Amino acid sequence: MSTVHYAVIDGIAVLTIDNPPVNALGEEVWTAVDTAVARAVADPAATAIVLTGAGRTFVAGADITVFEQLTTVERAMERSAYTHAMLCRLEDSAKPLVAAIHGHALGGGLELALACHYRVATPDARLGQPEVSLGIIPGAGGTQRLPRLCGVDVALRLCTTGTPLDAAAALAAHLVDLVVDGDLLQGARQFAGERASAQARRPTRELPIPADSIPAGLEACRQARNAVAPGPANRAVLAAIESVENGVTLPFDAGSVRERELFAECVVSTESRALRHLFFAERDAARLPSLPDGVTPRTVARAAVVGAGTMGSGIAMVFANAGIPVLLKDVDDATLDRSLATIRGTYDSAVQKGRLTPEGAERTLALITPVTTYEQFGDVDLVVEAVFEDLALKTRTFAELAGVTAADCILATNTSVLDVDTLAKASGRPAQVVGHHYFSPAHLMSLHEIVRGRQTSPAVVAASLTLARRLGKVPVVVGNAFGFVANRMLAYYLREAHLLLEEGASVRQIDAAMTTFGFPVGPFAMQDIAGLDVGARIRQHLRSTGRRRSEGPQSEIPDRLFELGRYGQKTGAGWYRYEPGSRTPLSDPIIDDLAHEAAKRRRIVRRDITDEEIVSRVTTALANEGCNVLGDRIARRASDIDVVYCHGFGFPRHRGGPMFHAQTIGLPTVLSRVQEYEARFGDYWRPSPLLEKLVTEGRTSIDG
Ligand code: CAA
Repeated sequence: MSTVHYAVIDGIAVLTIDNPPVNALGEEVWTAVDTAVARAVADPAATAIVLTGAGRTFVAGADITVFEQLTTVERAMERSAYTHAMLCRLEDSAKPLVAAIHGHALGGGLELALACHYRVATPDARLGQPEVSLGIIPGAGGTQRLPRLCGVDVALRLCTTGTPLDAAAALAAHLVDLVVDGDLLQGARQFAGERASAQARRPTRELPIPADSIPAGLEACRQARNAVAPGPANRAVLAAIESVENGVTLPFDAGSVRERELFAECVVSTESRALRHLFFAERDAARLPSLPDGVTPRTVARAAVVGAGTMGSGIAMVFANAGIPVLLKDVDDATLDRSLATIRGTYDSAVQKGRLTPEGAERTLALITPVTTYEQFGDVDLVVEAVFEDLALKTRTFAELAGVTAADCILATNTSVLDVDTLAKASGRPAQVVGHHYFSPAHLMSLHEIVRGRQTSPAVVAASLTLARRLGKVPVVVGNAFGFVANRMLAYYLREAHLLLEEGASVRQIDAAMTTFGFPVGPFAMQDIAGLDVGARIRQHLRSTGRRRSEGPQSEIPDRLFELGRYGQKTGAGWYRYEPGSRTPLSDPIIDDLAHEAAKRRRIVRRDITDEEIVSRVTTALANEGCNVLGDRIARRASDIDVVYCHGFGFPRHRGGPMFHAQTIGLPTVLSRVQEYEARFGDYWRPSPLLEKLVTEGRTSIDG
């Protein structure tokens, strides 16, 4: 069956692209569109043509999986040349060609619509060129047609930010010609019929760029280029700017040739491969487990949060922001008042920044109900426990929750270190208990670890995944082990950063090496933002339980800073010092003194350390421990670990995450680095058995 259906209704040919779930354009679909348009042009029964999408969307773009086949620049150029030629054929249609857009017209989907003579859209449609988020540029004429249709500013914005326009903005930008409030197809057919009667056709590539807009357009391109740091992370953005600029300065055909070259250079790059890897990794991580017939995951219509501290308050906001009414419980009114004042402050600041209307803020705030008793807990579908990180307190809370909630209510814990199975046992209904590990600040951080306990039911995992996506989070299912995935990996990352400091590097050098690698902040600046007290209290807890740290030698400096009351930005000093009211990190000689003392105690001769060694040690520690996490079955896939570290701790997306990065370096190289460090620094650098096995088997990919 063809992926494009053909029908003639009231003298208008209606071509419907039907390639679920999002009508992505693979080779077969491009060809089918080409064939269907040719048929409509030749069909005497049709005076005009409407092109639309079946199901929930117009077209979400080129089929991203196909890019894996574009392994050389030549092959990518060839592919792009085919679509360019095909879209020009469409545009040459002798009959008016109208795109009828609902859902999304993204990437190649928007480029397909741009090659139509007109575009009509539903009010909720979204149109954009998100290619830069995949490390590429529009490769089907988008950078050439957009400036002609909407001007340079809109073209630049769409192609360099990847942010789509809604229908109203697209109408204002002349990207769509009509917003249809009622039946889209009926509106599109009527519009197309009118164009046919008027013998109107408007091929986008024939539109002139108004001469007087060219100087401003070129200046906009120059400014955009100046605002972007050169380097592989921004390869696609810079290419998009160049291509839009060509759209202004070159004739359409010459600009298109250059667009194809730039697209091809981007699509074969490691950065694009990394970003495409994350696109699918994020979706794989959120995939629902298969459930027995007749079991559907519970929908969360009402929620409750126990504990109105920083995390609990943040989690309550996450629910309210998604429109879900939430009870926020704590022991007394004073605590709740403090929490609500903080929440209100956050919404007020969003209003001041124009991110929320005053009415929107009030509406959202009204969804949070402060309570001091469990009275209304019988009506909620989910409780998130976010009380102080203390096993006895949490155990008691779970026992209480079992008595006050419905038997099928999901009971989630936000613990970051404690054993989910112990809490599950305390509740008496372990199948309903799951970890929901949010990251601080909960309303801003996208990562959400869903911790599967030994007896957590698949339906509860599925409900948690569905809920997380509704809350706008990026969920990853992880196993129940100390630190789960995120904090366990973080412990190794920080171990290496701290040891490098003792061995001779400075805080500033290590942070700079890691930001040059692509992290938004280095490991020390990150701790100053998060608060050094958090880690210190976890270490205190571990010492109190007599638990041995698995990640090897621990630098004493973080505990010394904690003792000195240096908790980071909030106390004006941590790894750096801060002037009152400023967040600019300033080097503090006390850290060097502490590093010298620590080195002396550990009998280390401090030395010059290169930036290459810093990056290599830190990323190798992550990759090796990532393999252990997989070997211990705490993560299901290497790609899940990539999602965790990119969303949890800012691993540069253009490097695809610590595991993908290890693959791009080569697993044998990573193993030989671990072996070298083991020989130099001691057996806390032990190669992961999984890494050794992969290398022995000659595997290049961890997930296979
Ligand atoms: N190619 C291949 N598969 C795609 C796809 C694409 N362009 N877009 C979405 N999918 C798949 C997803 O992988 C997912 O598959 P599974 O169900 O197997 O996991 C499925 O479609 C549904 O996608 P989402 O889970 O993301 O659904 P959503 O409703 O949350 O979001 C969406 C829908 C906004 C369209 C989102 O899928 C999206 O942003 N897609 C990518 C859009 C994009 O980047 N397009 C540009 C492609 S590059 C291009 O077009 C280059 C060019 O110039 C020719």
